[in-house]
Amino acid sequence: MSTLPVVLLLFWFGWSTWAQEALIAFNQSSDALLLADSSTAPTILVSEDEWTGVQRAASDLAQDIGLVTGLNATVVTFNSSFSSESASPVVIAGTVGKSSLIQALARAGKINVDAIRGKWESYQIQIVSEPVDGVSQAVVIAGADKRGSIYGIYDISEQLGISPWYWWADVPTTKRESIYVRNITKVQPSPSVKYRGFFLNDEQPALTNWLNTRYPPGQYGPGFNHLFYSTVFELLLRLRANYFWPAQWASMFFVDDPLNAATADEYGIVIGTSHTEPMMRATNEQSLFLNGTWAWATNRANVTDFMRQGAERARPYESLYTMGMRGLGDTASPTLNASSLEQIVNVQQGLLRQVYNVSNVSAIPQMWCLYKEVGGYFAEGLEVPDDITLLWSDDNWANMQRLPLANETDRSGGAGIYYHADYVGDPRDYKWIDTISLPKYWSELQQAYERQARQIWILNVGDLKPLELPISYFFATAYDAPALASPNSTQVWLSQWVARQFGTQVADATATILMNYSLLAGRRKYELVDPTTYSLINYNEADSVLQQWQDLVRAATAIYDQLDASVQPSYFELVLHKCMAGYTVYAIHANAAKNNLYSEQGRTSTNALAQSVMDYFAQDHTLTQRYHNLLNGKWQHMMDQTHLGYQYWQQPMRNSMPPVAYVQQREVSLAGQLGVTCDGNNGTVPGDDMYHTLSSNALTLPPMDPYGPSRWIDVFSRGTDSVSFNVSSDPHVVVTPSSGVLQASGNTTDMRLAVTIDWTNAPNGSTMSTINITTTTATGAYDNATYPYGNFKMPQVQVPVNKTAVPASFHGFVESDLTISIEPEHFATNTSNGSAYYEIIPSYGRTVSGVALLPFTAQSQSTQSSSAPKLGYSFYTFTPNVTNANLTLIAGTAMNTDPTRPLKYAVSIDDDAPQVVQPNPLTDLWPLPAMWDGMVANAAMTNTTTHNITRAGAHTLNLWLLEPGLVVQKLVLDLGGVRDSYLGPPESTIV
Ligand SMILES: *[C@@H]1O[C@H](CO)[C@@H](O)[C@H](O)[C@H]1NC(C)=O
Ligand SMILES: *[C@@H]1O[C@H](CO)[C@@H](O)[C@H](O)[C@H]1NC(C)=O
Repeated sequence: MSTLPVVLLLFWFGWSTWAQEALIAFNQSSDALLLADSSTAPTILVSEDEWTGVQRAASDLAQDIGLVTGLNATVVTFNSSFSSESASPVVIAGTVGKSSLIQALARAGKINVDAIRGKWESYQIQIVSEPVDGVSQAVVIAGADKRGSIYGIYDISEQLGISPWYWWADVPTTKRESIYVRNITKVQPSPSVKYRGFFLNDEQPALTNWLNTRYPPGQYGPGFNHLFYSTVFELLLRLRANYFWPAQWASMFFVDDPLNAATADEYGIVIGTSHTEPMMRATNEQSLFLNGTWAWATNRANVTDFMRQGAERARPYESLYTMGMRGLGDTASPTLNASSLEQIVNVQQGLLRQVYNVSNVSAIPQMWCLYKEVGGYFAEGLEVPDDITLLWSDDNWANMQRLPLANETDRSGGAGIYYHADYVGDPRDYKWIDTISLPKYWSELQQAYERQARQIWILNVGDLKPLELPISYFFATAYDAPALASPNSTQVWLSQWVARQFGTQVADATATILMNYSLLAGRRKYELVDPTTYSLINYNEADSVLQQWQDLVRAATAIYDQLDASVQPSYFELVLHKCMAGYTVYAIHANAAKNNLYSEQGRTSTNALAQSVMDYFAQDHTLTQRYHNLLNGKWQHMMDQTHLGYQYWQQPMRNSMPPVAYVQQREVSLAGQLGVTCDGNNGTVPGDDMYHTLSSNALTLPPMDPYGPSRWIDVFSRGTDSVSFNVSSDPHVVVTPSSGVLQASGNTTDMRLAVTIDWTNAPNGSTMSTINITTTTATGAYDNATYPYGNFKMPQVQVPVNKTAVPASFHGFVESDLTISIEPEHFATNTSNGSAYYEIIPSYGRTVSGVALLPFTAQSQSTQSSSAPKLGYSFYTFTPNVTNANLTLIAGTAMNTDPTRPLKYAVSIDDDAPQVVQPNPLTDLWPLPAMWDGMVANAAMTNTTTHNITRAGAHTLNLWLLEPGLVVQKLVLDLGGVRDSYLGPPESTIV
């Protein structure tokens, strides 16, 4: 290709923090300090008055060094009597304003912390000469605050090769001879988003069943205790997160283990509660410990008291309060309304004033999550105090419903987002394995950041595993959104992420696998895939989709097989399992679909397909077992989630296989030993079925032209004996193979014949050819007998042949099968202006990529303005005078995040007036619009406009995206030939 990607890579490395110049090296260089080797271990000095959480992180670093070299470092508490007893290298870690050691270094002019002082979670790392008596050089990690120091320590750990996922996904550490620290001063600025966290939710069956194998139950439920949570807190900190909503289906964070909250605080995690649990009290506390019912209208005094106790209990710890009130559990309250909620929040802020003994509560972090019906109250005019963060929610399907408007960006409490990677509810749960499109996350998260939702980002992560990748990506963006601002950054980030887990050798190839996975899994949640999803007969859709999955598994397996055994479990958890598990689900549905169709066609191979569905169904279980048996059962139950046999939104209680059918193999079909069907067709000849004219012996292929695909004919056994066949046709219609023998069992029950046209010798214009399939045996069991409609005739397939040609001067898409299908990245012209432009988002959507209007803060555009950014697509039609050509624009799902500027696009063909379309109606935040469930299920929004194309020849399709936030995935112009499919017709030929 070109050298462009390399240039871009260098460019990104230049300014992104996650790719800043490395501090740690494993080879000696002139300016580098030896930190550790197999006989040298550093001393990590932390002052006595340091935060416990920083001391704890320092001991993690000591062990992390041991994982790399084999020799643990030692954490030494620094006090006035400290003296260095050995020549071992020294690391000093501490917090500005807390650590007397850091203070002494600053006073003595050994370090200058002006660049980080007072900056939230900022830190710097540098080499300092003679920091303290007896120490010639030390690596000094100075944090602006507690988490600044902790992140600085974990920054070193990560550069040593310790993955944040070393425990939660078993990522092994590469051993090194030596570790050096380079003489570079690194100053890490504050994160892009202030509070960054996840929500353990929907945690039954997987996480809870797993937890029960490792931790004893608590007094009220499963053992969600501080030992379990410690592993979560450490993971969060290593991922540079700082905020947490605890599990709450059958647990109560503050009650289950009194050490939970204290442990979170010690680690440095800000405690919160979910959108439905105000004032730091869990849902289950509402039902267990509240005097009376959870109802403001009737039990106000007790509810107030209950909330006060929540604040009193949380007061010692760094906390972020959920404000407001909903019904019991994740439901709307029947009695609350906007004005009672305003009253409740007044009371809650009053309680905080009392409990914290302050006159102004602005310094206490508070948020109000505008989730589900709460968003409805907001739309009705609910007033939220300025110091409470407005936590905007997605629609549970990763589409932000609303983002700050221009006049909302200066609220003192700011805004945030509640986002989902896992969900239980309408139109269907998705809580089995990763289904996240990373490019979709890119577009929504960058937009949230650009639109100033920067105070809180919280992600619902279900059972935590196996969502390691989306979790990592979410926090990478929350930590440094500008570093990931380019839509091309996702692949680069992925490659870096893989390199951190598995090394650089497999990074690029695995990043490609994960990106492809993200596209394939993002097409539709597994829970919504069934045998009817993809078309079996049109565009080879089901087969092509299954082939993509198979290629993915093959690529992932090839890498897995070459990895060291110590790395394989982790690679299985993070890469291979989801490819195999996804493929297996697709194979079950695709083969069940085929089995059902084949049984209608009377094919002998129906029964083998039924067996293959059962085999894949068994393999689904085997994969679950393989996951559960990894590493002596470490992840037992983590794949307990059912995912096959959904009947409605809620999970099935047991996996069940789609229905399969069998044919009676001991009897021959009434219509004979051999059957024929073809591309684009359900019907079978000879014989009768509901798909073709009664008694007809002919089927018709979709039309063939020089710009369309080849076609196929299937010949198959539907009898008890072998049968041979011969194919004859016009010389320009080439069928390969043109003869064969079908067996009544084994591998040659079915044969696929390719149909191509010899265009040089084909007649000009439109002609119809007939392909005859003859057998040496009689076609029907009742031939020459008394079958009511007489004897069956030998089967035939008709082929409409259109010899078309575009002028040599034309460049663009060419009509075939009365269809033009366009991947939007293949524009012919791209007009932009200085402040708004189009960019390709690679791997966005269901097929190839998306095209978006950027930046996300761009002004509204108008077709009236000649400078409005516009895309032009050239296409060529052969069909004259199409009066009702339907142009369908398939876009990524998106809500109207600015109700004053709903999403809009415009299209026109040639010089016609542009037609403006608003793809998604304006509605309140709750309830969601009627089209919504189909939209999220299909992972696409489709809108159609009608056009007159009066003449054949070259045309231009003009497209304007009039508001940022709309991402176009595909354009389909139907001149009367578009067939049913899930993904739309494959892209037309471009000449
Ligand atoms: C590190 O670099 C600084 C500035 O470039 C220099 O003054 C100092 O001596 C160096 N320290 C070591 C240990 O090389
Ligand atoms: C390093 O520390 C860990 C945790 O305390 C311990 O399990 C391990 O054995 C130590 N390694 C060595 C080489 O002493």
